[in-house]
Amino acid sequence: MPGEPKRLEHPRSVYIIGFIFKIITLSVLIAVIYQITFSPHGPAVLVPIKEKIEESQKSAILEEVRQQEEYEKHRHFHHVVEYPQLPENMRPVCYICHSDYPHSKNKKVRAMLNMHTQFFVCETCHIQEQPGISVTYKWYNPLNETPKGPFYGTEYDPETGNLIEVEDQFSKISPFYRTGDKFKSAIQIQDSALAQDYVKVRDKLTPEQRDNVKKKFHVHIKAKGHECKVCHSRNGILDFRNLGFSANRTIDLEQLNIKGMVTKYESFYIPNLFSE
Ligand code: HEC
Ligand code: HEC
Ligand code: HEC
Repeated sequence: MPGEPKRLEHPRSVYIIGFIFKIITLSVLIAVIYQITFSPHGPAVLVPIKEKIEESQKSAILEEVRQQEEYEKHRHFHHVVEYPQLPENMRPVCYICHSDYPHSKNKKVRAMLNMHTQFFVCETCHIQEQPGISVTYKWYNPLNETPKGPFYGTEYDPETGNLIEVEDQFSKISPFYRTGDKFKSAIQIQDSALAQDYVKVRDKLTPEQRDNVKKKFHVHIKAKGHECKVCHSRNGILDFRNLGFSANRTIDLEQLNIKGMVTKYESFYIPNLFSE
């Protein structure tokens, strides 16, 4: 009837039903947009753009880190790429007791640290600096006293932009004690008397005795490895040029200027990682 005042006091149930309808409408809208843009069951109009962005951010090493993170999540289901293994007596002593994935405590960086063991021996990060002893880092190959390279990860393929493939599967960057122009390896391998002896008798040792032997292997090993910026910065401890890294690769490593990396690790992991 004209002039009759608008009814204001709807029952509460009307508002509730109205709200539910809004939620349903919104959900349907989101589902329709997803169906059109990204869903594998629809026309997927935005997928090529997404793939293009992902393609431009591809890095073999980051891909591997991602795989390792995946692997840690589903330890029993996934299979990680196998790396060629050295004969036992040539492997560093650390592997008698530690696995190929020795880092487990710090969830944020463990996959990243484990990835570095593919091209570093443990001591490259864990060596305890001693006063008066100078340490130099060089490529070390247990099967070849003077490895020539090209070494893993040192250069980009100009055509694909990926890292070049190399034949040398065993060289790793490793610390050497330097006196004058003489270099002496700073790492212990399983060929050492201590290591051989330990492997022979370990099953007979009590936990305390094992702990004592562990301390012998841990001399000059510090509990926390070097921080990221000890290497990923200008004037870091590694002489990238002498190690054979190309100029553009060096810049990327110094600045950790790797696509997809900056956001993920620099702003997220690095500043908080070692704050006391
Ligand atoms: C005889 C066995 C043994 C050998 C060989 C050994 N470790 Fe360990 N290491 C251990 C044990 C056991 C622990 C304690 C593990 C834990 O607390 O989770 C440990 C812990 C560590 C830690 C963590 C900090 C600490 O002191 O608890 C680091 C770093 C480490 N080892 C590095 C190395 C490196 C590098 C090598 C090779 C030079 C090596 N270890 C060789 C048994 C060994
Ligand atoms: C790229 C440098 C780097 C390399 C190479 C490296 N570490 Fe570490 N490691 C670290 C850092 C950094 C920490 C401390 C992580 C933290 O707790 O934040 C650490 C911690 C550890 C720990 C104790 C904490 C944990 O995660 O369980 C062990 C054990 C360890 N390292 C063993 C090893 C062994 C064995 C190797 C060689 C196979 C090795 N590391 C190689 C940097 C390195
Ligand atoms: C002892 C020196 C050293 C330390 C410490 C170190 N890095 Fe590295 N890192 C390197 C070198 C050298 C390479 C390249 C090795 C190669 O490709 O042969 C590398 C590679 C990388 C890459 C791969 C780059 C690519 O092209 O995809 C990332 C990412 C990275 N480091 C991040 C970190 C982070 C994060 C930390 C700290 C948790 C760290 N690094 C600690 C020396 C170091």
